[in-house]
Amino acid sequence: MADHQHSRASNSETSHAEAGHDGAAQLWDEMYRSRARVWSGRPNPQLVAEVASLAPGTALDVGCGEGADALWLAEHGWTVTAVDVSAVALERAAAHAAESGFGHRVTWLQRDLATWAPEERFDLVSAQFLHTTEMPWQRSHRIAADAVRPGGTLLVVGHHPDGLPPWASHAAGSHDADSHARAHRYFTAEQLVAELGIAPPEWSVEVAESREREATGPDGQMAILADAVLRATRLKAQDIP
Ligand SMILES: C[S@@+](CC[C@H](N)C(=O)[O-])C[C@H]1O[C@@H](n2cnc3c(N)ncnc32)[C@H](O)[C@@H]1O
Repeated sequence: MADHQHSRASNSETSHAEAGHDGAAQLWDEMYRSRARVWSGRPNPQLVAEVASLAPGTALDVGCGEGADALWLAEHGWTVTAVDVSAVALERAAAHAAESGFGHRVTWLQRDLATWAPEERFDLVSAQFLHTTEMPWQRSHRIAADAVRPGGTLLVVGHHPDGLPPWASHAAGSHDADSHARAHRYFTAEQLVAELGIAPPEWSVEVAESREREATGPDGQMAILADAVLRATRLKAQDIP
């Protein structure tokens, strides 16, 4: 993830207000159409850092956007299912995939997490900045956690609620509506662990922390943001103590 790209995400998310999930595809399509390219095309740095030590297998990228993470995974030997509600984003992802030479390792699916969950389970499930406007974060990330096979890895990265981009309209607001929007959309690693039950004995939590990083806003302004990072392994039955 380039810093700038997620600056854009935050701005766009805030303009969507709290729409019903029926309009999720339309809302996100509009967001993507607002710019020829929303994200940088580079993989998210926490993904690269956390996945580098894993043996490649099958991966699910939930909320894959324009596909940079999915393609990075494919380039590193993973067989990827990449899901997003936005057909516009997926068209761009597929175009990048065709140029990359690794597209044959990625299946792009247009699905709405409000009505869809995968039938199969994966060696790796990655949710990067899955800050949906249409449902509480607990619901979308429950789908991600449930898709991890025994022995597999869950990797969740999001904007930490105390380290949001200052150019996001509700980032520093004190109004009830701002607080509600933050609680609906953003989470800490500790909240992921507690509210999704990502904890022993079923899970081994390898990383649950906040990481700061420098970011560039839409008008070139610099800021230090914080990412919530969770990496956990779902233990196989025989490994559960
Ligand atoms: C902030 S973007 C992050 C994109 C990408 N993971 C990245 O880090 O660049 C959130 C993504 O979630 C997708 N999304 C939002 N609501 C969704 C839903 N209900 N079902 C599936 N995808 C959804 C959006 O279309 C968008 O691409």
